[in-house]
Amino acid sequence: MGGVHGTYLAAVPARASHALVRRRLAGSIVGGGGALVYRPISVLGWGMTFHWKCCPWPRFRAMRREYDAIVARLISKAQRDGVPGERDDVLVLMLSSRYDDGTTMSRGEVADELLTLLAAGHETTATTLAWAVERLRRHPDVLRALVDEADAGGDALRQATIFEVQRTRPVIDLVGRQVQADHLRIGRWTVPKGYAVLVSITLLHENPAVFPDARTFDPRRFLDVRPDLHHWIPFGGGARRCLGAAFAHMEMNVVLRTMLRDVTLLPTSDPAERWHLRGVANAPAKGGRAVVRYRVGATRPPQHDAAVRVRRKEGV
Ligand code: HEM
Repeated sequence: MGGVHGTYLAAVPARASHALVRRRLAGSIVGGGGALVYRPISVLGWGMTFHWKCCPWPRFRAMRREYDAIVARLISKAQRDGVPGERDDVLVLMLSSRYDDGTTMSRGEVADELLTLLAAGHETTATTLAWAVERLRRHPDVLRALVDEADAGGDALRQATIFEVQRTRPVIDLVGRQVQADHLRIGRWTVPKGYAVLVSITLLHENPAVFPDARTFDPRRFLDVRPDLHHWIPFGGGARRCLGAAFAHMEMNVVLRTMLRDVTLLPTSDPAERWHLRGVANAPAKGGRAVVRYRVGATRPPQHDAAVRVRRKEGV
């Protein structure tokens, strides 16, 4: 990863206990002027909470068993339905795929791939969309311009808005690499073999030397300009950059376009929602609460009218 500046890098021994990591973070920081990187600690705190608070592993294992049972049922159903050409969803594609030697993926491998799609793909994309709603309700000028653009069939500002949401509210805060060579030189720092180098995405994105007026939400900074992938790193960077980045962008573009065309998102003067770590991703604490009205002529989901009738009957 290039573009190394200031205070967003930390080097920690890769196999260190969390306590050691904490101590090291206070002493062995790679960054401008030896300054302490304070943000990553909150992220490492996630691991610490996981280890020490209320021993969550039995609950985790129970949830994993439940997940495996659900996936096993889905796989059995897909195999039963497996008439060629009847289904073309990802599960069926995986079940019918073959390795070079002609063997199929095991059930466990398929379950793991689905978990990757769910955790790495769905949670991150959905959370970024929640932030988009949260930001747009607080920036009515951008919201208005986006609605006009969607109505006119364009998408340049929408693309720029997605880039800016990801810059100002990156849902993953850290990417890490372990030093495999004898040592790694980064600027005036030397990181020994075996250490992990952690990059705080948030701190880099907030660096005013890289993004002028960095604290301001301004999608126009990306209008008709592709972000520099050494500075804009919500998907990480280098050889292990997120595999689903292009797919996630396509998904977010389609969802936002549909939302802008079908509903009026009502602006709010409420304060910005706080960050809240939901296990995988940093989400808006209230979920990116939205108040919407259907636009005239909008396509409503088929179940909408029935749902409204039920709610009326229940007096909601
Ligand atoms: C807004 C949505 C997403 C965000 C913010 C995001 C973020 C990230 C980040 C930060 C990494 C680590 C990259 C690195 O270490 O340099 C990563 C890796 C990965 N992501 Fe995503 N991701 C998103 C969507 C997706 C989707 C939709 C998929 C799959 C369909 C996906 C699959 C993966 C996989 C498989 C990796 C591991 C890549 C590797 O280690 O080679 N992600 N993602």
